[in-house]
Amino acid sequence: MKIINSISHMRKQVLLWRQERLSIAMVPTMGFFHDGHLSLMRTAGNKADRVVVSLFVNPAQFGPNEDLNRYPRDLERDAKLAEDTGVSCLFYPDVKDIYPPGFQTWIRVDGLSQGLCGTSRPEHFRGVATIVAKLFIIVRPDMAIFGQKDFQQLQVIRRMVMDLNIPVNIIAHPIVREPDGLALSSRNTYLNMKERESALSLFQALQIAEKMVASGNISVPEIIRAVKKHIQSFSNTKIDYVFLGHPESLRPCREIVGEALLALAVWVGKTRLIDNTLLKQQANQAHQIDKSKGSEI
Ligand code: PAJ
Repeated sequence: MKIINSISHMRKQVLLWRQERLSIAMVPTMGFFHDGHLSLMRTAGNKADRVVVSLFVNPAQFGPNEDLNRYPRDLERDAKLAEDTGVSCLFYPDVKDIYPPGFQTWIRVDGLSQGLCGTSRPEHFRGVATIVAKLFIIVRPDMAIFGQKDFQQLQVIRRMVMDLNIPVNIIAHPIVREPDGLALSSRNTYLNMKERESALSLFQALQIAEKMVASGNISVPEIIRAVKKHIQSFSNTKIDYVFLGHPESLRPCREIVGEALLALAVWVGKTRLIDNTLLKQQANQAHQIDKSKGSEI
């Protein structure tokens, strides 16, 4: 595996692969790899001839009081894990090269960046969209893999790629979880034992919602109430938001029709965790609703 720090070397490497007509898949990351990251890398390897993983803790997506300085980092460990996973190249540029003095060009995906995480992290998605666009311009991958764990991020990137005609195929990867259901995250390393127990409330709350929908309850206020109640029953939890709405527009809905996104952000102690699931209305429920409106599907 090649470890490349300079932008010009990265470009040269890509050019060589392009001359050989090799396809390139990219996995943008902020490092401190866990099985979620590695699973994205494996998917990339199954889909393309070469896999580029970027490792860049992007200052532009952290707010002033967020965890940029204490974000976990371990290049040596990450390089070994990436190599063992079959990655062709680990690209870890410096902050000074990505954001040189005088930097002033930003990408904003307006509507989708508002609400959910955008409410408490107002500049976050501007930072994400800008770094991902820059990485796409440097690496020019055919495809890029993003986790559904960061559902809003995935939709922001999809929109950006569409709006700017960036020729990269965006591939979504399902959420990878611990055996007990906790979604893997580099930030899980912040949790002490007691907080780790409370962190499980997110996944459990999603399951409660899934069961409600499966048993025919499609009332958004009732589902949100049950989700909040469950999370609040754990010590040290503070809900940032519980969102239930349309998975593409990210607008809230009043009733679940077809498929709806249930997304959560919860503070567990000083750690902010996110998780989500797609709630699917059962086929027989859709049938009943439509019948009540007087039309059959
Ligand atoms: P990071 O949090 O390191 O995540 C890198 C990629 O791994 C993202 O696509 C994220 O959705 C995915 N991922 C993280 N945990 C996952 C899990 N449990 N299951 C599946 N996928 C998971 O997301 C970022 O970095 C940054 O915002 C980035 C896109 C690199 C821009 O800086």
